[in-house]
Amino acid sequence: MKSLDTSITALRQRSEQALEQRLPAEEHTPQHLHRAMRYVVLGGGKRIRPILVYSAATAVQADLAQVDAAAAAVELIHAYSLVHDDLPAMDNDDLRRGRPTCHKAFDEATAILVGDALQALAFQTLADNPLLPAANRLQQVQVLTAASGAAGMVGGQALDLASVGQPMNIEALETLNRMKTGALIRASVLLGALGQVNIAAADLTRLSHYAECVGLAFQIQDDILDITSDTATLGKTQGSDQARDKPTYPMLLGLEQAQHRATHLCAQAQEQLEPFGERASLLSWLAGFIVQRLH
Ligand code: IPE
Ligand code: IPE
Ligand code: MG
Ligand code: MG
Ligand code: MG
Repeated sequence: MKSLDTSITALRQRSEQALEQRLPAEEHTPQHLHRAMRYVVLGGGKRIRPILVYSAATAVQADLAQVDAAAAAVELIHAYSLVHDDLPAMDNDDLRRGRPTCHKAFDEATAILVGDALQALAFQTLADNPLLPAANRLQQVQVLTAASGAAGMVGGQALDLASVGQPMNIEALETLNRMKTGALIRASVLLGALGQVNIAAADLTRLSHYAECVGLAFQIQDDILDITSDTATLGKTQGSDQARDKPTYPMLLGLEQAQHRATHLCAQAQEQLEPFGERASLLSWLAGFIVQRLH
């Protein structure tokens, strides 16, 4: 059996290819916009969300080719969310994935349009997938629209901005993070599972619980790394949360408790995978990676 590391690397490469194939060519008009879209999507990143799509598909014995579109779609939404998150009106960050943010490398108007175009491309990619029946594609579109919009990532971003400088309790922070980050992570897992045409309802429920725990743990670790890591390792400016007075887990709970919460969530996620046995070894590895990662 291939080592998990080798499998993860192969899935990352597979997702890069799925993205590359779907992005508009630079030489086509409008070239400036296309160049910026390719800059933000193909410029690095851990590709956790597409890897989760493929790993969930593996857990339910779906064909990876059937979920290439979903893997690309969720990363396109994620990339758009980062471009807008970095804008001066939001987190005002200059560095992303070790390079100037989109509005720095191009300009603000381009960064807004890049986000808009990537979002549209994501849904087009799901709807156009020739390898899945229309009913599954429709379910995938429903999952990703719900996770991206006002009830998901965008709503979470709105709560995040509104919470700057405000007192906040842990329940409110958890709600914010389930929406801002957890929703797209959960969608990644569900999109992969929907690559299986005959998915059992019980499997979907377990995978959904897994993904909720992992999604929350992911943002806790992101908040921890903003304090404990450094700019070179992160590829984004360390200390950005504190500089913007963002409510974070370490701020509310202290570093040690935040770490403890993330580890506990990881164990809870892994418990959900028991009935899947070996087929869920990638998902199990990812839960561990998400709380142990250094960038
Ligand atoms: C960063 O996400 C933004 C959050 C939702 C916390 P990632 O840590 O997955 O960023 P990339 O894709 O690897 O750059
Ligand atoms: C961003 O959260 C979540 C998104 C929806 C993009 P952060 O603002 O903490 O992400 P980073 O730290 O800039 O990557
Ligand atoms: Mg932000
Ligand atoms: Mg940010
Ligand atoms: Mg952050």
